[in-house]
Amino acid sequence: MADLIHEARQVRLNARAPYSGFKVGAALETRGGKIFTGCNVENSTYGLTVCAERVALWKAISEGESEFRRIAVVADTEVLTPPCGACRQLLWEFCGDVEVILANLRGNETRHQLKTLFPFPFDQDFLTKE
Ligand code: THU
Repeated sequence: MADLIHEARQVRLNARAPYSGFKVGAALETRGGKIFTGCNVENSTYGLTVCAERVALWKAISEGESEFRRIAVVADTEVLTPPCGACRQLLWEFCGDVEVILANLRGNETRHQLKTLFPFPFDQDFLTKE
């Protein structure tokens, strides 16, 4: 777990966050032990900003990965920063009930199951049942 947090912390340094000043790093681990990292990338439209979690997720999926174990998210906040609602939706859809590790730069960490952060999801099951 220390490795995953370390990777998230390192990639956070690449965040492009000139508008919010809020840098986030994420590191997503596959079941096979590979790590895909991501940082938030903001731009002048604001609305096209992509969160760190989604950058990591799209990198992994585009490299052919489909089985995930856990994700670490690092930000420089006293209260640990959780994934936004949109990222919870996508993590649920593509990763299932993975472990979500939250950490800050002061050495605080917590662990959660995605299911507890996102308890009543809309997902593909609703599209196949009537
Ligand atoms: N952000 C993330 O990258 N991940 C989170 O978990 C929370 C928010 C980014 C989006 C935006 O660039 C900045 O943080 C402020 O919302």
